[in-house]
Amino acid sequence: MKCVDDFRLRLGKQELVPIMVGGMGVDISTVALSLEAARLGGIGHISDAMVPTVTDRRFNTKFVKDKLKQYKFNVENADKSVVKFDLDILAEATKMHVGSAMDAKKGDGLIFINCMEKLTMNAPKETLRVRMQTAMDAGIDGITLAAGLHLGSFALIEDHPRFRDVKLGIIVSSLRALQLFLKKSARTGRLPDYVVVEGPLAGGHLGFGMDWAQYDLATIVADIHAWMQAEQLDIPLIPAGGIFTGSDAVGFLENGASAVQVATRFTVTSECGLPEKVQQEYFKATEDDIEVNQLSPTGYPMRMIKSCPAIGDGIRPNCEAYGYLLDANGSCAYIQAYNREVAAHPGERRIKVMDKTCLCTHMRNFDCWTCGQYTYRLKDTTRRKEDGSYQILSAEHVFKDYQFSKDGKVALPD
Ligand SMILES: Cc1cc2nc3c(=O)[nH]c(=O)nc-3n(C[C@H](O)[C@H](O)[C@H](O)COP(=O)(O)O)c2cc1C
Repeated sequence: MKCVDDFRLRLGKQELVPIMVGGMGVDISTVALSLEAARLGGIGHISDAMVPTVTDRRFNTKFVKDKLKQYKFNVENADKSVVKFDLDILAEATKMHVGSAMDAKKGDGLIFINCMEKLTMNAPKETLRVRMQTAMDAGIDGITLAAGLHLGSFALIEDHPRFRDVKLGIIVSSLRALQLFLKKSARTGRLPDYVVVEGPLAGGHLGFGMDWAQYDLATIVADIHAWMQAEQLDIPLIPAGGIFTGSDAVGFLENGASAVQVATRFTVTSECGLPEKVQQEYFKATEDDIEVNQLSPTGYPMRMIKSCPAIGDGIRPNCEAYGYLLDANGSCAYIQAYNREVAAHPGERRIKVMDKTCLCTHMRNFDCWTCGQYTYRLKDTTRRKEDGSYQILSAEHVFKDYQFSKDGKVALPD
């Protein structure tokens, strides 16, 4: 019986342990977590979601406070179109965030950044261009295009001197999405270096409708693999979503995949950004505690733990401070839902908004407990302490368990 370590991922001249830790926004996949994955010879991701608030927390900058000060006059206004990001400041924050990872990197692995197109930031093209270009300036090894079709994203960076040397990949959930992307990007004369195929059991946003349960990762990977062979396209395929053990990963690696992307198992490691109190909730969750809902203003379904504080909370929109989900017209589905509830409950101090959530605020505060479907199995990957809490794992332990375990087993920590 094989283990993941019997395989290698080839990316250009590089040979890597075929384990990629997926991007988990807002600083759930921290620099520290990405550094461990790279040190151990795999690929780690940082995320470019809400980088100004992440650098404020890590480096004591005041980006968010300054932005709020600038736009304070607009806080009561439902129209947020004036709330713009200063692109120089966005670049400065990105440089600090990415630079801190690349400066500290050790080992043979790589560090990529997860760039979500759905972070439209009241100026989708301009902000995405700055985020990607600055990450390349700061030495990032690769960019994973996520949460969106990214039909114009290669074109946004094609003039960058590193366009052909940085590793570029995209996350898709169907063959159709991949075909569209390749067709639209063809003009730049560059193929992606890898394709992450994300199935319906993943954490974060899903590239499926509410009928997600009818889809199956292995089938989608097989479809894409067959099409790529027919087209003589040799691009590494990296399945993601519900790959919980090393043996699950081997199953994919034996069937045409070049690596796997995993995330949920790393949410309960000490390098992960989630506070330990929240990690205990992930451990405790049962299958019934996990749902896919439509609370995200992005319009994509999202998986989360039902008891998380983000659900039903009616906080005033924080777009003047954050504003990451404002569309090209300065609007967000949460603002509309919030204003509807305010109008329906005049004079009430604390309203509830049940159909949407202020994702910026709640992701930033670790109050939106997004998770993969198999979060309910995390309790079986560790030991329970005398006080009833679960032992937090190290990223190295989880990485090596994926790398070396066999027979569907999961190694418990010492
Ligand atoms: C807590 C959490 C946050 C996530 N956030 C993002 C994100 O910001 N961007 C993204 O592209 N994928 C995100 N994902 C998806 C992962 O990167 C990954 O592809 C997927 O969860 C893998 O499946 P697994 O969690 O079952 O291992 C997130 C997943 C989790 C568990």
